[in-house]
Amino acid sequence: MAAQPDAGILLDGVSKTFGLRGASVTALEKISFATRRGSFTAVIGPSGCGKSTMLRMLADLEAPTAGRLFANGRTPSDLRRDGKLGIVFQEPALLPWLTVRANIDLALRVTGTRPDGADTDALIDLVGLDGFQDARPAELSGGMRQRVAVARALVTAPEVLLLDEPFGALDELTRRRLNHELLRIWAAQATTTMLVTHSIEEAAFLSDTVIVMSPRPGRILAEVEVPFGRPRDAGLLREAAFHRFADTLSEILAAGEADARG
Ligand SMILES: Nc1ncnc2c1ncn2[C@@H]1O[C@H](COP(=O)(O)OP(=O)(O)OP(=O)(O)O)[C@@H](O)[C@H]1O
Ligand SMILES: [Mg+2]
Repeated sequence: MAAQPDAGILLDGVSKTFGLRGASVTALEKISFATRRGSFTAVIGPSGCGKSTMLRMLADLEAPTAGRLFANGRTPSDLRRDGKLGIVFQEPALLPWLTVRANIDLALRVTGTRPDGADTDALIDLVGLDGFQDARPAELSGGMRQRVAVARALVTAPEVLLLDEPFGALDELTRRRLNHELLRIWAAQATTTMLVTHSIEEAAFLSDTVIVMSPRPGRILAEVEVPFGRPRDAGLLREAAFHRFADTLSEILAAGEADARG
């Protein structure tokens, strides 16, 4: 199953239970889905439904209690070892004593690649941090730190990109601009991408498929194909069909939350 050439992200019966002060919390229960290599998948669902846990397992930072995970036909640990994974966490984890440029280049150094100053500068420019190359994280705003984390994830030209609410803390305009940049980069490199977001609009605008999850324990409520062609531009955000689609996603989410409340 994992060897299929067009396989993107594949979860096969994945469950994750955490022990918490003697009790156990089932964060995810029997999650199975498959995406195509090079496709863009968004994951939406209420707080605590296991979205970050799923990404952390794909990033080889957490092991499943049951089931198997693959990305581009490889296990998370193989992908990580080969430096083919780009990750942006909910909280940007930057090294405080390194400059913006050094934090980005570090992602290359850990894979044994010599940084190319021009590539790094282009990325810094891309995420709108031109002029801040030599600043340290403490001198940046939260949103700026998050943009450094995005640049760091992209500098290795990853095969698989995992994004956990990367733009959650940014203002609406910056967020839209970075969404457009993200689409451009994704289209240019055919990166298998999974984005966790709380923004239904962001999910609908960016992705090929939206996975909608329910809380306690996290399960898949629906896998919805996004019915819009590519390339997409800002005009799509104003179309009636776009708003109808976003409403459909909202309704699936709301029904899931109502069920969970019982
Ligand atoms: N290391 C851990 N130890 C114990 N429980 C954990 C751990 N990590 C996550 N959990 C539990 O797993 C569940 C899912 O957490 P997770 O962080 O994956 O949710 P999420 O969907 O990312 O939420 P949010 O939208 O708020 O970021 C929660 O009930 C949480 O308490
Ligand atoms: Mg989370």
